[in-house]
Amino acid sequence: MCGIVGYIGKQRALPIILDGLKALEYRGYDSAGVAVVGKHGKGFQVRFAKAPGRISVLEGKLGDGTDFEGNVGIAHTRWATHGEPNEVNAHPHHDCKNNIFLAHNGIIENYKDLKSELLEKGHVFCSETDTETLVHLIEDMRDSDPNSTFEEVVMKALRRVRGTYGLAILDRREPEKIVAVRNFSPLLLGVGDGEYIIGSDASAVLKYTRQIVYLNDGEIAVLTPSRHHIFTLENQTVMRAPQEIDWTIEQAERGNYPHFMAKEIFEQPESIENSLRGRLVPEEGLAKLGGLESVEKDLRKAKRLIIAACGTAYYAGMVGKYMLEEYAGIPTEVDLASEFRYRKPVFREGDIFLAISQSGETADTLAALREAKQKGVLTLGIVNAVGSTIARETDAGVYQHIGPEIGVASTKAFTSQLTILALLTLFLGRQREMSITIGRRIAEELKQLPILVGRVLAGHQNIQTIVKKYSAHRNFLYLGRKYNFPVALEGALKLKEISYVHAEGCSAGEMKHGPIALIDETFPSIFLAPSDSVYEKVSSNIQEIKARRGPVIAIGTEGNGDLKRFTNDVIYIPKTLEMLTPMLSVVPLQLFAYYAALIKGCDVDKPRNLAKSVTVE
Ligand code: M6R
Repeated sequence: MCGIVGYIGKQRALPIILDGLKALEYRGYDSAGVAVVGKHGKGFQVRFAKAPGRISVLEGKLGDGTDFEGNVGIAHTRWATHGEPNEVNAHPHHDCKNNIFLAHNGIIENYKDLKSELLEKGHVFCSETDTETLVHLIEDMRDSDPNSTFEEVVMKALRRVRGTYGLAILDRREPEKIVAVRNFSPLLLGVGDGEYIIGSDASAVLKYTRQIVYLNDGEIAVLTPSRHHIFTLENQTVMRAPQEIDWTIEQAERGNYPHFMAKEIFEQPESIENSLRGRLVPEEGLAKLGGLESVEKDLRKAKRLIIAACGTAYYAGMVGKYMLEEYAGIPTEVDLASEFRYRKPVFREGDIFLAISQSGETADTLAALREAKQKGVLTLGIVNAVGSTIARETDAGVYQHIGPEIGVASTKAFTSQLTILALLTLFLGRQREMSITIGRRIAEELKQLPILVGRVLAGHQNIQTIVKKYSAHRNFLYLGRKYNFPVALEGALKLKEISYVHAEGCSAGEMKHGPIALIDETFPSIFLAPSDSVYEKVSSNIQEIKARRGPVIAIGTEGNGDLKRFTNDVIYIPKTLEMLTPMLSVVPLQLFAYYAALIKGCDVDKPRNLAKSVTVE
């Protein structure tokens, strides 16, 4: 995800902001840029440089840095959302006269309206980004209000903006000032001796200071070399003393979590929120998916959806099939991409192909996509990595917007893929027979999901206790039906990939056709048993396992006291719509695998034999 760094003080800004950018590299990015204000000749000028790719490419452009003298600077690593990862789309963005420069994390939701207004007024845009709109908006307001201070103009501009932002902004005409703003995108100030370093997370500043002032949402900080002033966007002054942090840089990157996997599991309320942001119109029961606008008419006529993916993304696709068929009425097939590419898939008129891939680079998924394209089928993608090959080669698609997933075991990508599949179901369903009432219901429940996932996470200690109890077992069977059948597969995959404990996922309905032969008192089963349309069937399957002395752990819905009577352990999840239960029921299984791997002392983030992105067959 994007990163922001800024420096104001007595030292040369360039080396410090470059250090900050390097410390933020772990977040993933696809381009980078710097802007430094310094005295050149008689007056102050801003020198800037941007480059796609690694920070080393940017450094190559900076040469020995002598052109970039100055004690004030901002810098950015971009993880593309609007527009390709290229030089012009990289930050910092600037106004028409190269006075104001701005680095932004987040999304300006109403940028299209603002941009057309500014274009009409004669502003010249260079990039395709939402961010550039903001810098022109500030310029516009500054020109029409020359008596206000820079920060007053920024605040005025922000009142017109809808969206999320962490911002570092400078103006050549006030060269000893940086304005930093936070609104749903983290930002902090590192406080040094006569200097400040701005960072979107602590790792960007830790090399220089451990004194940190965290900004809260809706706060703006005005920095000069000697002081900082924080106030709210409503102009109330905020007094906040710096805190000393005692983390290492490594810990800071992981936000104090021992592993990236833990961080990614625990940040799911936020990542789901990010995947939903700006995409729901609850009052109309609609989903707004900008990435599909160009193919909206084709989607209206679509007769069948063919999903291809691998691993966790494939299981997300399986859940998607249940959603799309039940609520959008679209026949949906799900294929392992590795199988799809070698069989002879039969396409018909009205088919739409959908690739799901966190990395956007998985070789089998890419090959399946190319096969579909070659047959003339319209192709869509659900992808996290912006600008990745799958994102570029599909005709249209929806980005996950969850930032990089670093742990090899996919966790937040899965719940985000499910979120987007639910949005797609709403989108396609409302194009068809789905009533506004059902649409509203789904939208309302989707909105609640981040909170509900947070509630499941709050029960992590109970899950850890249960894991300890079963830590001597070497085999587990995961069982579920309907929406939770793919979750059983995903739970088993998580356990085996990071703890190397043998686990099998199976449809509970298939249990009697073979797997039940494994069961005795040494072979525990984990049942997905939420109170849904197949609960009665699942509870019968539980009884069948218990009758063979198999230990049972159940994931059940809060309020179902019954489950406790005939299982050994129960982990409760909140009630939601049946189609959305996988987003809650998978969370205890992720934690189960994580704690099991910890007990065994496994390298959770880099399990043996596995790669994060499988770019070869
Ligand atoms: O990047 P992708 O979503 O295309 O990756 C697909 C699989 O390789 C991936 O989900 C893999 O199964 C993970 N290790 C699961 O945790």
